[in-house]
Amino acid sequence: MTDSLKCEQVPYSTLAAQYGTPLYVYSQQAITAAFVQYQQNFASLNPLICYAVKANGNLSILRHFASLGSGFDIVSGGELQRVLLAGGDAEKILFSGVGKSKAEIELALTHNILCFNVESIPELERINTVAGELGKKAPISLRINPNVDAKTHPYISTGLKANKFGIAYNDALTAYQLAASLPNLNVIGIDCHIGSQLTDLSPLVEALERLLVLIDQLSTQGIQLQHIDLGGGIGIVYQHEDVPDLKAYATAVENLLSGRNLKLMLEPGRSLIGNAGNLLTTVEYIKQGEEKNFVIVDAAMNDLIRPALYQGYHTIINTNTTRTKEFVADIVGPICESSDFLAKDRSIAAQAGDILLVQSAGAYASSMASNYNTRCRAAEVLVNGGEHHLIRQRESIADLLATEKACL
Ligand code: LLP
Repeated sequence: MTDSLKCEQVPYSTLAAQYGTPLYVYSQQAITAAFVQYQQNFASLNPLICYAVKANGNLSILRHFASLGSGFDIVSGGELQRVLLAGGDAEKILFSGVGKSKAEIELALTHNILCFNVESIPELERINTVAGELGKKAPISLRINPNVDAKTHPYISTGLKANKFGIAYNDALTAYQLAASLPNLNVIGIDCHIGSQLTDLSPLVEALERLLVLIDQLSTQGIQLQHIDLGGGIGIVYQHEDVPDLKAYATAVENLLSGRNLKLMLEPGRSLIGNAGNLLTTVEYIKQGEEKNFVIVDAAMNDLIRPALYQGYHTIINTNTTRTKEFVADIVGPICESSDFLAKDRSIAAQAGDILLVQSAGAYASSMASNYNTRCRAAEVLVNGGEHHLIRQRESIADLLATEKACL
């Protein structure tokens, strides 16, 4: 049977036949459910949930988040333009990132975004200058690096002293004083983001406690903040991780914020969309090497770089559920790199022509795709009940070469 596995009501085999593979498939209902879960668990705090666009910036996905009332956490002028094009509300946009250019700051100020999450003193000075040139006051928050260990993969840990992110905890008060003295800034908040795919709540709570100490110190110096932004980072199940309970997180935050007049903001990415998407891929060949077996598929590290870059684990199942002869193999793509694998030493029953489902590919999959080996980026489909819509067409070689020239 190849029809038993479905995204909502649509068999994956139907989607693969109609749109081809590799194909990212997203469930709209799963995205909605994840967003509503945040809203419900944090209901008493009524936070502004700002979806982290970098997780998956497809215009239809952004439009869906906007329709749910979501705000957006962006890290580039490009992401800002995506959100606006998708109908997102500029007044619900937070602008994070360590390297905002002058042009990006101008664009964000022109559209009156909610807040800049500032990561350094030179950035603070640049925003002040650009705002002055435009005759505006820029709303800012300082991203503080609380120096807590998020206990995640080192490449996605951001809250330690050694990381490039945020303003050092010990420099925070001085930075706020400077910010308050600059004429074209409106100091409204404080933020942090300590890492991604966190499976333990305690570093998040510790970071919050550390920010509250600063908020109190600032208040005695006459700097009253209006909001606190705890970033994203909640992990999801890829294999059998014990992920944080949102209710427990919400309760801890609620207790710590009680009696304070602070608006809460959150910037989740992965936990809103990671498990709502899968990557469909066709088996091209089964190859028996000298030491290992290889299932060679038509998706590759350019479609899903997480295994190669972060040793990320993605569960892979065969949509052809009639196969029974299991063997252990590396599941690899056609790219000419030994790091081009989707899985290592997996037990799988598969034959050439079967369609495999690489799970939990909603976040940091299509958004990190590349054209390495002159491979066209894959198509994306959004499923809602029995309906499915192509939300990004498969790139063509013509698209891919359109901006290049063969000079001389
Ligand atoms: N806010 C800021 C400032 C961030 O840098 C990030 C993610 C988020 C929010 C959203 O974090 P999330 O809720 O998704 O954990 N490509 C890596 C993950 C990189 C995360 C970068 N920052 C991966 O595939 O694991």
